[in-house]
Amino acid sequence: MLATVLSVVAVLVGIVLLIAWRVRTNGEWALWWHDNYLERIRDFLSGTTRPIRILQYVQHNAKHGDPLSVITQYYSSYILVHRGQYYSEILDAVVLETRPRYVLELGTYCGYSTLRIARLLPPGARLITIEMNPHYAQVAKELFQHAGLDTQQRKWRLQEALLYTTLQCLQLPLQLFSRTPQCPLSPSSLPAQEKSAEKRPTGQTCKVELLVGSSTILIPQLKKKLDIEKFDLVFIDHWKVSYLPDTKLLEECGLLKAGCVLLADNVICPGTPDYLKYVRNSPHYKSQYFPSQLEYLQVEDGVEKSTFLG
Ligand SMILES: C[S@@+](CC[C@H](N)C(=O)[O-])C[C@H]1O[C@@H](n2cnc3c(N)ncnc32)[C@H](O)[C@@H]1O
Repeated sequence: MLATVLSVVAVLVGIVLLIAWRVRTNGEWALWWHDNYLERIRDFLSGTTRPIRILQYVQHNAKHGDPLSVITQYYSSYILVHRGQYYSEILDAVVLETRPRYVLELGTYCGYSTLRIARLLPPGARLITIEMNPHYAQVAKELFQHAGLDTQQRKWRLQEALLYTTLQCLQLPLQLFSRTPQCPLSPSSLPAQEKSAEKRPTGQTCKVELLVGSSTILIPQLKKKLDIEKFDLVFIDHWKVSYLPDTKLLEECGLLKAGCVLLADNVICPGTPDYLKYVRNSPHYKSQYFPSQLEYLQVEDGVEKSTFLG
């Protein structure tokens, strides 16, 4: 009897270890684990969604009117599993290097990257961000408001601390196999430009415009509706199948300035092979790949920086 119980326990432990190893080393398993298992359980138990949990956490912990505090707390609120480890540094470096006046982000989600980019833009610059999910867009809008970038506000109820702690514990087995995460937002690592940007009085920041709808429908309307001529920087971070068609659409609509930088995230995991093939082989682009690794995992990912040559 004891031998049978021990065998069953050994098999179960073996299965758990196998799953943990696959989740750590395989991109598809990692996305499945986080999006279809952990997040669904959290949604079910808390009766909320991940965006609302992020919003509640940020509203509770981040300093009002302080974009850096909002992105730091956003970052701590949950594992950015689709993020390459050096993604934040690469994004910041590209924004600082490009010094863009007109920026387009495809895929806002809750506005983490929007805020990262916005805090580095000079006064007078415009950042257009497109999100097709109205629920995500509403959360992003409230986070922008909390960071001092918007004026509208709506309150969500706070989640129960006990439930949150219990749910965090569900991730413990996975985290035991991972390296200690390093938050790239420590104040000492911030570029000088950002620190001065944080001190700007209200009204002197860049303008963030959140558009709710599909990029495919909105891109052709940008020139007329928003009086945009051409973009200096495009951050591509929506569904991977749309990277290539939307890039071609931006070209057709004449929205890419010569020298415009396209920064595409997650080009390896989940991956955008058709987009990579296009920008790497087109005579209209000079393309460079920045390898990274999904945070908490041993899964390769990367960011592709492609300069449009006209
Ligand atoms: C990876 S998330 C974006 C993450 C965000 N850029 C950030 O850094 O936090 C992708 C988002 O793109 C949105 N999305 C996907 N396809 C889209 C499309 N064609 N038009 C607009 N939004 C889209 C999804 O709803 C989702 O919120």
